Amino acid sequence: MTLRAGLIGCGRIGFGFQQDVQRVGIASHAGAYAALDGLALQAVADPDLATAKRCATLFGAPDCRVFRDPAEMLATTELDVISIASPDELHAGHLDESLKVPQLRGVLLEKPLALSTGVAESLLSRIAACGIPVLVNYSRRFCSAHQAVRQAIISGELGEIRTVTGFYGKGLRHNGTHWLDLARWFFGELAVHEVRQSHARPFGVDATPDVILSAASGLLLHLHAADDRDYTLFEMDIVGTHGRVRVLDGGLNIEWYRVEASPYFSGYQQLVRWQTVSGLRDSLLHAVANLRDAVTQGAAPLCSADDAAQALRLACQAAAYLPVASEGA
Ligand SMILES: NC(=O)c1ccc[n+]([C@@H]2O[C@H](COP(=O)([O-])OP(=O)(O)OC[C@H]3O[C@@H](n4cnc5c(N)ncnc54)[C@H](O)[C@@H]3O)[C@@H](O)[C@H]2O)c1
Repeated sequence: MTLRAGLIGCGRIGFGFQQDVQRVGIASHAGAYAALDGLALQAVADPDLATAKRCATLFGAPDCRVFRDPAEMLATTELDVISIASPDELHAGHLDESLKVPQLRGVLLEKPLALSTGVAESLLSRIAACGIPVLVNYSRRFCSAHQAVRQAIISGELGEIRTVTGFYGKGLRHNGTHWLDLARWFFGELAVHEVRQSHARPFGVDATPDVILSAASGLLLHLHAADDRDYTLFEMDIVGTHGRVRVLDGGLNIEWYRVEASPYFSGYQQLVRWQTVSGLRDSLLHAVANLRDAVTQGAAPLCSADDAAQALRLACQAAAYLPVASEGA
């Protein structure tokens, strides 16, 4: 049976990235629904009606319906699954409205889950009461190259992890939660250890500080802020006793290093890069496939609303350390 899908928000990740000639693979929600078996995009909603119509024409089923107002779409169209790709501040409301649809079987929500921990907690209660899978698109979790990094950390292939550093920009909740979620997925539960104001501009009221986190093992993770006006910078550098992994270019590229005898100095060991792999290709294809499989086969969501709430909790805790705490703390 084909799952009937609806899309709220037809912007860049809703469908526009699919038209960017520099992007390779499936990079939008609409593109993923069009590419996968067992799903069909039956309705889209966006106040920008021209964009919504273009999205429906390019990626929707032949009878795909187009709405300005998501509430009207939810009230008048029979949908099994919904993607929410509206701006950050609308996610909680759109998820809440979607969960009221009686026959709904699953949701894929863009990050962040919400903008405050209080709202996130009430959404988690609503989700638990509905009993349907709600996935959040912290995209790296859906990609096998990032899953391989996690496996190398957990299996001990990288040895004991000595240090983790990284960069992010554009607000702790907006983009920082991508890093916090990745770190929590790789290294387990984290606590905020120290926070410092940085040179990087906030994303609206969402501060962009430097943050030091601690893992239960005592490992410290140093997250540095980067000002997005200069360029985009998102990296994670994991240094272990047996090797090193660098998540670069937002995760598009992952460099792997191993320890070898130095060709330059007798008796020394050094790190040698032995492979660079593509890390994010088709991330939305994998996310929507995970949604489909969660709904039809009971597959475990690779990134749950609970995971997203934990990343948001860390972001809000860190923001609360700052002299003028941003909203949501
Ligand atoms: N997971 C990722 O890697 C990733 C990447 C990019 C964006 N995002 C997230 O996706 C979301 C959208 O980002 P974007 O870059 O596509 O933004 P965008 O501004 O390009 O798109 C947002 C769209 O939502 C529409 N919209 C506004 N109000 C609406 C409403 N009430 N109902 C329905 N649609 C409405 C806008 O008209 C616009 O078309 C953001 O929350 C962002 O954080 C996630």
